[in-house]
Amino acid sequence: MSQNESAAIEHAKRVREMFGRIAGRYDVLNHLLSGNVDKSWRTKVAKRLKAKLTADASLILDVACGTGDLSLTLFENTGARVVATDFCRPMLSIAAGKVPVEINLIEGDALHLPFKDGTFDAVTIAFGLRNLASVEGGLSELRRILKPNGWLAVLEFSRPTNAILRPAFSLYFRRILPLMGGIISGSLSAYTYLPASVSKFPDQTQLALLMEKTGFDQVDYENLTGGIAALHLGRRSQ
Ligand SMILES: C[S@@+](CC[C@H](N)C(=O)[O-])C[C@H]1O[C@@H](n2cnc3c(N)ncnc32)[C@H](O)[C@@H]1O
Repeated sequence: MSQNESAAIEHAKRVREMFGRIAGRYDVLNHLLSGNVDKSWRTKVAKRLKAKLTADASLILDVACGTGDLSLTLFENTGARVVATDFCRPMLSIAAGKVPVEINLIEGDALHLPFKDGTFDAVTIAFGLRNLASVEGGLSELRRILKPNGWLAVLEFSRPTNAILRPAFSLYFRRILPLMGGIISGSLSAYTYLPASVSKFPDQTQLALLMEKTGFDQVDYENLTGGIAALHLGRRSQ
């Protein structure tokens, strides 16, 4: 096994264990720390995808679904069939208690998904891509399981574009949020990991370029809440 492969396995293990530790408090903290804005971001993903999907019985895969909030939003707002996957069992267990039985929950690693090439009309990943050992590897794997012309939606924290918002958000995200998240979840490391992983993640433009490089066209993004988050859409090229 190469050094890169063993580093990727070690990274995945750390991330899985971290989400396993905070799973029970994840939803409460998400809504509290974002002032509930995260809900409107997920609704935006569903609305934008609904407008792209033309087939009557479209099939969407929600990757790194966590506790299932986006899977549920997609199910309720798009009319599509939804499958959801994550590699952290405690997160999936919470999802199982929230989503209807029509949403299939499947344990799987986003870098090696247990689906055949060209299975899905659309694939979503919300606040998941940043956690993968390789962002580029993740995008390629998501492309693989999409049908040609299928749509990928990536919702992720990004770089605030507003010069006034930027320093205030930075103070909140780097100092206040880790403290509050750490105290409430009982895992300080998980909530210091959050801003650290966002700072290493490509910004809006870089992510759009990476999507094009990995085989997506019609790539476009929308800043959400002044660029605190961004929603990228891209179509699998042939
Ligand atoms: C921040 S949570 C986001 C959950 C959900 N999508 C949401 O919007 O709330 C990140 C999720 O990504 C999952 N994850 C991280 N790396 C993964 C991987 N390699 N394969 C599958 N899931 C992964 C974690 O287990 C966790 O549930």
